[in-house]
Amino acid sequence: MTQTHTFEVLVIGAGGAGLMAALYAAQTAQTAVLSKLHPLRSHTGAAQGGIGAALGNLEEDRWEWHAYDTVKGSDYLGDQDAIEFMCAEAVQAVYDLEHFGLPFSRTTDGRIAQRPFGGHTNNETGKPVRRSCYAADRTGHMILQTLYQQCIRHQTTFYNEFQVLDILIVAGQVAGAVAVELATGELHVFRAAAVILATGGHGRMWEITSNAYAYTGDGVAALVRRGLPAEDMEFFQFHPTGIYKLGILITEAVRGEGGVLLNGKGERFMPNYAPRIKDLASRDVVSRSMYLEMRAGNGINGERYLHLDVRPETVNRYAAEDGRTRPDGSPYRVSAEEILGKIPDIADFCRTYLGVDPIQQPIPVQPTAHYAMGGIPTDVHGRVLQNAAGQVLPGLYAVGECACVSVHGANRLGTNSLVDLVVFGKHAGQHAAGFARANGTPALPNDAEGFARQQIEQLRNGSGSEKVAELGKSLRALMSDQVGVFRTQQGLQSALQQIGELRQRYRHIRIQDPGRIFNQEMLSAWELGNLLDLALLTSAAAAARTESRGAHAREDYPRRDDAAWLKHSLAWLNGDTVQLDYKPVTITHYPPKERSY
Ligand code: SIN
Repeated sequence: MTQTHTFEVLVIGAGGAGLMAALYAAQTAQTAVLSKLHPLRSHTGAAQGGIGAALGNLEEDRWEWHAYDTVKGSDYLGDQDAIEFMCAEAVQAVYDLEHFGLPFSRTTDGRIAQRPFGGHTNNETGKPVRRSCYAADRTGHMILQTLYQQCIRHQTTFYNEFQVLDILIVAGQVAGAVAVELATGELHVFRAAAVILATGGHGRMWEITSNAYAYTGDGVAALVRRGLPAEDMEFFQFHPTGIYKLGILITEAVRGEGGVLLNGKGERFMPNYAPRIKDLASRDVVSRSMYLEMRAGNGINGERYLHLDVRPETVNRYAAEDGRTRPDGSPYRVSAEEILGKIPDIADFCRTYLGVDPIQQPIPVQPTAHYAMGGIPTDVHGRVLQNAAGQVLPGLYAVGECACVSVHGANRLGTNSLVDLVVFGKHAGQHAAGFARANGTPALPNDAEGFARQQIEQLRNGSGSEKVAELGKSLRALMSDQVGVFRTQQGLQSALQQIGELRQRYRHIRIQDPGRIFNQEMLSAWELGNLLDLALLTSAAAAARTESRGAHAREDYPRRDDAAWLKHSLAWLNGDTVQLDYKPVTITHYPPKERSY
């Protein structure tokens, strides 16, 4: 039997964004969080190297420099009002995390430690600046621990291992959500005045990805099925350093601490592509440079991977060549102990997954699908927008990776995912609580769980012969081949056709396990449906955008075209077709310029 629960604010997803939103909502409104995982297993835990904020603890820094770096990193597609808001708020947000108990690494005089990261610069010298505030290489993990403890303290109710299936919208206003309890297979209806989606990204549609298995675009897909658009789906970030063949993230902090990328000839190649900032150029630039090296036959042993070298002798050699200094002006030199102290988890991953000791050997790496810049369109309060005119859907909010504010534009800077989720998580939580208090909880529609039940029963009763695992494999292969770091019209058209065929075949899948208790096969089938829908939107928006910008690199249109394309895309799913519309980018202080690193 379906159970019904009533709250003022319902948060869906318990990563950093969801926990932050819940923490602030719970201070004034009755708040529940539902999550497909236990909160501490959320994917925010994979964000290793730090959260950017211009604290200036080790050298001069300003939030305006952080804002300009973010605009430039976004290849001018980020909305500058939202970026300025985020970078200005980031400083207090980091101190708030510190006061909540987050165990940041420290400088010798006890302040929060900071390290360089890709694309973060001193805007006067153009040199890397230490802006990323870190807890060794476990920053995201520590954020989860800290925020979860705070949520418990504020009496937030958690429904763990509940999979959202549908968002309820009645007369143009949100009314709640429907979820399946994984332990029992029972449906639960959550009635709420405000719903905040914090369901993360959708990187599992690519073969090599840093993303957790849970990252299947659930929130975005649920809204798209309810007739809402997704924004800027063509922009998906490939992080330069994933473990070869596995995709597991090797944090950019490795390069922040002085590690360098080497090709098969043992040469450091990034100075050829980004002469000023080298290995710490923004991620789109580094990933493309790596592909070009590998294409030129300069992979390791001619294969499709390169080396990330953080051995102390390599770090010290290139630091001397670059003239890198410590904050006190002395030459930058590191010992094995210092490196191990700063990236202990990375050292463990390398030993466990590769049998490589990064203090003795270079790490085999390749670009890995990492982060969705696009997602559910929102304003700075996290309110979901329904169209290019910016019409708000009352009571509905989205934050974190599933949302598109847009602060990341065409390419996110490292550390800014954590900044995004704490800053906008807080504001969405506060706004949603205020909205819920002012408006009260609407009545549920008749048969509130009908659409969710129909989706699940269709999967359970499917009598075709198609297999979830095979369709998923085909999707990942085609997305990697045709909708990866480099794209062409021909490849994108072929992707659209193949995704269309996979969506047809998906209608004929048969699952082997008809049971209700922890039915992971059923869950995977539903998740695959989400990935297929979002892959269609991604490929259609990418085929339409005939320019190269940030992470969207078209070999047939290699230049950025501001006259035609300085605009955000909005993509609606209409049955088997995609409808596109566009809206302007907000420019405040930084008119578009050519990027150089
Ligand atoms: C990293 O540490 O490189 C990942 C964090 C991020 O994506 O910003």
